[in-house]
Amino acid sequence: MSLYAIGDLHLSLGGSKPMDIFGDRWTGHVEKLRRGFEAVGCNDTVVLCGDLSWAMGLDDAVLDFNFIADLPGKKYILKGNHDYWWQTASKLNAWFSENGWSNIALLHNNAAIYESGGERVALCGTRGWFFEEQASAHNEKIYRRELARMESSLICGSKLGADRLFAFLHYPPLYGNGYECAEIIELLEKYHVEKCYYGHLHGPSVRLAVNGYRHGIDFQLVSADSVDFEPVKII
Ligand SMILES: [Fe+2]
Ligand SMILES: [Fe+2]
Repeated sequence: MSLYAIGDLHLSLGGSKPMDIFGDRWTGHVEKLRRGFEAVGCNDTVVLCGDLSWAMGLDDAVLDFNFIADLPGKKYILKGNHDYWWQTASKLNAWFSENGWSNIALLHNNAAIYESGGERVALCGTRGWFFEEQASAHNEKIYRRELARMESSLICGSKLGADRLFAFLHYPPLYGNGYECAEIIELLEKYHVEKCYYGHLHGPSVRLAVNGYRHGIDFQLVSADSVDFEPVKII
């Protein structure tokens, strides 16, 4: 059994969003993802770090979620900034079960336990916060809500009796140019998060990523195009 993470599948199987406009790496990205998941076993777990589907509503997202469900492993999903189809947890859970997608679950205001070598690892996460959005006072409310979601997920993970906590975000909590989302980093430190995986950065923006230790936490970008469309093995 292994644990993996990858973000930004950017599927559009029910629509016609051409992803190659984001650069050559995205040409044939659905097939690349299918091949990338060949290393994942059906008893493995994969955290999908947001930007999953371009669909605007659940009906348009069915083909994308059929694809996700058919990929091997249990999938925990985070919300990204492009996931306009996202609904309340109760609606999404009902939609998953109506469609028989028993291997897809939400990572949203909650946490999940992944057991490895006798240890309990808590998988915690939320969408996170984008530094460009921070400039707008209008979004202060959303920012506070994201912080609250992150903390409730970390509390939930701790209460589940975790030996280790891993965090998954869509937005990078810090950048190579020095920008850091201080409140999110403080939360990760407060709950002794060991590893933090995030997505959102594509193409030329990948150079802004922080991969490695900061504040004693191991950060890694896992957006699909930055990892050759192959889920990154964590443990
Ligand atoms: Fe994004
Ligand atoms: Fe993305």
